[in-house]
Amino acid sequence: MIIFDDVWFSYGDREVLKGVSFQADFHERIAVLGESGGGKTTILKLILGLISPDKGKIIIDGVNINNLSEEELIPIRRKFSIVFQEGALFDSLPVKENVAFLMREILRLPDEEIYLKVRELLQRVGVSDAEELMPEELSGGMHRRVAIARALAIGKTKMFLYDEPTAGLDPVNSERIVALIRDLAERESIGFMIITHVVYVAWQLCDRFIFLKDGQIIFDGDKRELLSTNIQPVKDFIKELLFRVSE
Ligand SMILES: Nc1ncnc2c1ncn2[C@@H]1O[C@H](COP(=O)(O)OP(=O)(O)OP(=O)(O)O)[C@@H](O)[C@H]1O
Ligand SMILES: [Mg+2]
Repeated sequence: MIIFDDVWFSYGDREVLKGVSFQADFHERIAVLGESGGGKTTILKLILGLISPDKGKIIIDGVNINNLSEEELIPIRRKFSIVFQEGALFDSLPVKENVAFLMREILRLPDEEIYLKVRELLQRVGVSDAEELMPEELSGGMHRRVAIARALAIGKTKMFLYDEPTAGLDPVNSERIVALIRDLAERESIGFMIITHVVYVAWQLCDRFIFLKDGQIIFDGDKRELLSTNIQPVKDFIKELLFRVSE
């Protein structure tokens, strides 16, 4: 379980989160929505202990992670498979080395085992012929798939974290990534937290929706509650969705 208990966070004097509290089970399918700059990526960074809150507690699987060392954070980070915003790959490494990277660095597996696993992972995300390609040779959709394969490489995942997984993709590739996210979660029987601007993507994948505005959670509810909300900024945000759902 992930627990945020009255979490405050600033970058310098820029206050980003102002008392954020929520609890999430690892098997949930949660969307975090909100305006650009609202603090969505900051929440992911806090979950992983890449930054620490100024105030409040973050508890992952029963462990308060606020004051853990880098070493102590490793088992916390390994609970998650993370696809960062833009899904950045290492430009100078071919696809197979990108996927192998964490297995080599963190798991310290022998090469033979690593490459077998790389092949299997690329197959699972549907880009088995991309092994030898360089990132610059990939389309946007393939790039994102490789980033997902790399996130899967660590195993022991309890939850997927996706930061804007469909950003910059055309509608067709966006649909395919949505299908992949759903398939992976079903196959592994685990949940995910997905950060997205695209409310329709969230609608297709999730059953819980958290809205951030000005550093606070202004809505946290299910589909039914989302459609009937009276909270104006949330209503504004889901206008496009209402149009599509009623089509
Ligand atoms: N490393 C940093 N140093 C200073 N300010 C930062 C840093 N990272 C983010 N910020 C600021 O903190 C605020 C929240 O950033 P965050 O990345 O969490 O937003 P976001 O909701 O993910 O936005 P987007 O939808 O554009 O990805 C923004 O105003 C951003 O400019
Ligand atoms: Mg972001």
